[in-house]
Amino acid sequence: MMIEGRQQRSIWYEARAGEVCVIDQTRLPHEFAVYRLQTLEDACEAITSMRVRGAPLIGVTAAFGVYLALRENPDSLETAVKRLRATRPTAVNLRWALDRAVRELSEQKPAGAAGNALEFALALAEEDAACCEAIGGHGGEVLRRLWQERCAQDRPLRVLAHCNAGALATVCWGTALAAVYKAAGAGVPLQVWVNETRPRNQGGALTCWELRRAGIDHNLIVDGAAGHVMASGLVDACITGSDRVSASGDVCNKIGTYQVALAARDNNLPFYAALPVSTIDFDWPSADEAIPIEERAAEEISVTSGIEAGGRETRVRQYPEETVVRNFAFDVTPARLVSGIITEHGVFDANRNSLAALAGAQLSPSDP
Ligand code: MRU
Repeated sequence: MMIEGRQQRSIWYEARAGEVCVIDQTRLPHEFAVYRLQTLEDACEAITSMRVRGAPLIGVTAAFGVYLALRENPDSLETAVKRLRATRPTAVNLRWALDRAVRELSEQKPAGAAGNALEFALALAEEDAACCEAIGGHGGEVLRRLWQERCAQDRPLRVLAHCNAGALATVCWGTALAAVYKAAGAGVPLQVWVNETRPRNQGGALTCWELRRAGIDHNLIVDGAAGHVMASGLVDACITGSDRVSASGDVCNKIGTYQVALAARDNNLPFYAALPVSTIDFDWPSADEAIPIEERAAEEISVTSGIEAGGRETRVRQYPEETVVRNFAFDVTPARLVSGIITEHGVFDANRNSLAALAGAQLSPSDP
């Protein structure tokens, strides 16, 4: 993404200071702040507190976390991986990145461990960037075709997005928003309906922030309005990211995604999920089997934060402490509601046969 005229990634390494830097997403949209990670605990805290979030970015941050741990103690691979694994339970990219780190690093001699871990994390970040760009290529083509079919090319394609599956959720580009960026770059006029995505408002705070920077027309709506805009004929397609896809094509994503997919089906609208192959969990057979769905703190729902007119940050308790809250962070959309899974290797049907072609597929994304 472009910030003040230069390409900005969500995570990067500053060699001179020996620091891993991230955009602190808890400060957006009011403040662009860089947060520096120097220890394993910094990396764990950044993931848990959601300074960094989004499945692919969580995976890459964890890889840098391994480096920070080995820099302090070259013998700490096992404990570091265990600690990082416990930070967030749902996005499978975390487990995927840590499993890869273990495969790459467990045979190494302690002397070179930290250097190798840094090399691994930097390579994973590059992979993620290439992968997301390829997802954007394939997804952009899906959106271009929908524009031709649905809009007779004489009005913008109207896309509904949930949560933030943009550049901020990955190293750069994003997944669902990469499709939007690539389509826009190919000359497709777009208007994006952005679901606010309660309770942490990743849509309102992050997706709108990104789209404004990219100069893409968008409107923020409350989550409950998604069905209404679809039923009013104001949407052509829905596209989201994912935190974990089953081997059968069920899509686990930010809470509220299931309702978007239901409303899309009822209104004969396509619902696509865009994700890297690393988000497909081939050990998860289907939605019939439960996966860990993160439950977060009640305060995310009962306490609201924002800035006052003078710019001072403020927190307001919306609901009394006695109100018993359940804060489910993710839900699962059954494969039958999913029109297609957009990956770095192309677009696949949301079923076991189609996705089987991707089992064991390594990166080296195909050209769009
Ligand atoms: O809780 P978050 O903000 O980490 O959840 C993010 C999402 O649900 C995204 O849609 C998903 O991780 C895909 S990001 C490319």
